[in-house]
Amino acid sequence: GYLKELLGLTSIENQLKEKLKIDKVIVVPGDSDESPLVKDEIGKGVAKVLAKLIKDQDVLAVTGGSTVAAIPDQIPKMSRDITVVPSRGALGERVEMQSNTIAAALANKMGGKYKMLHAPDNLSKAALTSIIEDPKIASVLKAIKDANILIHGIGDAGVMAQRRSTSPDVLEKLNENEAVAEAFGYYFDSQGNTVHQEEIIGLKLKDLQEISTIIAVAGGRTKAKAIEAVALNHRQHILVTDEGAAMEILK
Ligand code: F6P
Repeated sequence: GYLKELLGLTSIENQLKEKLKIDKVIVVPGDSDESPLVKDEIGKGVAKVLAKLIKDQDVLAVTGGSTVAAIPDQIPKMSRDITVVPSRGALGERVEMQSNTIAAALANKMGGKYKMLHAPDNLSKAALTSIIEDPKIASVLKAIKDANILIHGIGDAGVMAQRRSTSPDVLEKLNENEAVAEAFGYYFDSQGNTVHQEEIIGLKLKDLQEISTIIAVAGGRTKAKAIEAVALNHRQHILVTDEGAAMEILK
């Protein structure tokens, strides 16, 4: 629109598209690091994208995080025959930021169904292996595998490790391997190599290949490195970000 032209955001979007090799980039004004309201603008951007994209029978998977959590409020009430699922089990975050909570809120706004993944976090590998055989859990895991749209956040590795009270040995591993980014439970270095994977059930990195539309949402100047690492090295079709992150990435 006119305002975007005026602010030069359209040109920034085009430069980012080229630099990150992403089909579609939306840049909203402001910097999420400075004001939480900017996340609402990112949410509005996602609402616009979804309005064009969504079809009946779609299965949407959503991650947790405060940016994805800002989306449901920006979606107009509608009535669609869709299913929303969390992409992974909880990762020990505040409940408002958990993917289960966000999936339910989004489904309510869109008039669709939701499925919850009730798996406690910080389980041992053995416990996880047995939990995924539970029929209820297995049915949600299948829905996650069937997702055709994924909306995910991106975080700075250090910030996320701290938010999740990560153990000292994992912290050391992240440090040693120079992790800069976190997305969908994986930590990556600046080249997008996996440095560490959280032991949690749900979406796996290889599942991304099967998902036809992947929407990344992340803003704030301090996330520039993380966004670049994830965007350049993993499949993303749409990025909704803010001016703060965009200008830093384009520096
Ligand atoms: O924990 C879920 C998650 O989507 C992470 O994968 C990501 O790093 C983080 O949240 C982003 O959170 P926020 O939007 O609050 O920065």
